[in-house]
Amino acid sequence: MAKFIIENNGPLKGEVTVSGAKNAVLPILAATVLTDEECIIDEVPDLKDVEVMCSILRCLGAEVKTYPEEGRVSVKMSSKVNTDPDKELLQKMRASILVLGPILVRENRATVWLPGGCAIGERPVELHYKGLRQMGSDIEVDDSGKVSTETDGLKGTEIYLDFPSVGATENIMMAATLAEGTTIIENAAQEPEIVDLANYLNKMGAKVKGAGTDIIRVEGVEKLHGAEHSVIPDRIEAGTFMVAAAMTRGNILIKNMLPNHMVPVIAKLRECGVVVEETELGVMVKADEKPLVSTDIKTLPYPGFPTDMQAQFMALLTTVEGSSIVIETVFENRYMHVAELKYMGAKIKVDDRCAIIEGNKKLKGARVRATDLRAGAAMVIAGLAAEGKTELSDIYHIERGYEKFVEKMQGLGAKISREED
Ligand code: EPZ
Repeated sequence: MAKFIIENNGPLKGEVTVSGAKNAVLPILAATVLTDEECIIDEVPDLKDVEVMCSILRCLGAEVKTYPEEGRVSVKMSSKVNTDPDKELLQKMRASILVLGPILVRENRATVWLPGGCAIGERPVELHYKGLRQMGSDIEVDDSGKVSTETDGLKGTEIYLDFPSVGATENIMMAATLAEGTTIIENAAQEPEIVDLANYLNKMGAKVKGAGTDIIRVEGVEKLHGAEHSVIPDRIEAGTFMVAAAMTRGNILIKNMLPNHMVPVIAKLRECGVVVEETELGVMVKADEKPLVSTDIKTLPYPGFPTDMQAQFMALLTTVEGSSIVIETVFENRYMHVAELKYMGAKIKVDDRCAIIEGNKKLKGARVRATDLRAGAAMVIAGLAAEGKTELSDIYHIERGYEKFVEKMQGLGAKISREED
C-alpha cells in the first residue's frame, strides 16, 4: 500500500490551480444517462471516483471516451440502458446511487447496489427512495444492499426532504426532468454542485428552476439532448489549500476558485486572523503577518460551514492561540481524524457531535492513517506543521478525491512524497 511522507518545510508559498469539483462532476456524469446523444464534460478532475463513474456508465451501455490530459470526458449512452448493472462495480462508490433516478425514469425499472456505511456514518438513502416512491415507483431493498425499482412511469409531485440531502436532491431532480408533469422538491439542498447539475440539465433541454434555493421546480419534458458543460471549480479542494496555507503561516495564490462558494470558510479563516484577498489573478491567502487565534465552527448544509472542511479546519485549530469548539451536525461520525491528530500531540475532547480543541499545540510527526477523504487531507495539513516526519497510510482515500494532490502541494513548497509501503 502507498503512503505519504510529510515533513515541516516552513510556510507554503507560490500559486496553485483548483481542479473541477468532484461532487459536481459525479452527478453530472450520472445525468448523461438521461439522453442517448453525445455529452461532453470539461474540467473533469482525474480522480479514482471519476474513473469508477465512467466504468459504471460503460456498464450501463454507454460509449465513454476519456481525455484525462485535457480534463474532458465524452459519454454517449445507448438507446436502451442496462437496468441491471454489475454489483461489484456499484458497491465501489457511494455516489453510484446517483444513477438510480436516471435509469428508472428512462427504462421504468432499475437495480442498483449500495455499499455499506462508511467511516463518516451509516449514510442512509431513504430520502432518495421517498422521492422516487412518491413519483410512482416501487422500491425494494434487500439486506445484501440490492435496490430493485420499477414503475409504470414516473409522475411529477410535491416532495418534502426531511433533511436537505445533496444526493437525494440530485437523484430526484434528475428523475423529474423526464417524468410526466411537474415535480417540486421542498427543503432541497442548495449546494453549488446542485446548481451546476441543474445548469447542465437545462443545457440538455430540461426545465429546472430554483436550484440553489430550498425549493426546486422541475417541469418534465419528453426527451433530453446531449450538451457540453464545464464543471465548476472544487470549493473543498480550494478550502483545503487555504487551510494548508494558514496552517504553515504561509502566503499563497489560489487560481480558478470561486470565493462566493466559500463564504463561511473565508469568514472563519478571517476570524482566525488569516488575510484573504480577492485579486484579478486569484485569491491571496496570507497567514504570515500575525499570530492566528481560535474560532468556533458549526457544520451545516449549504450555505453553512461545509462538513467537508471540518477535519481540515480542526487540524489548523490545534495550533492557533486559544481553544475552539467544533460542532459536526451533518454526519454522525465525522471525528475519525481526532484520534489521528491526538497521536501527533493535539489535545481534543469529543462529546457526541461536539469537539473542544485546545490551541497552541506544537504537533509532532507520527505514523498516522487517512480514515476518510477529508480526514486524510487534514492529516497532510497537520504533517506540514508538525515537528519531524509524518507517515500517512491509507492514502487511497485522498487519491479518490484530490487531483494531483502531491504535485500541487509540492508546487507550494510542501515537503511531501509518495512511497509504496
Ligand atoms: C454529498 O454526499 C457529498 N458527496 C459529500 O462529500 C458531502 O459531505 C455531503 O454531500 C454533504 O454535503 C457527493 O456529492 C458525491 P447527504 P451525500 O445526502 O449526498 C443524511 C466528500 O468528502 N441522509 O447530503 O451522501 C446522511 O446520513 C463527500 O466529498 C439521510 O439521513 O450527502 C448525512 O448524515 C463526503 N438520508 C446527511 O444526510 C438520506 O436519504 C448528509 O447526507 C440521505 C442523507
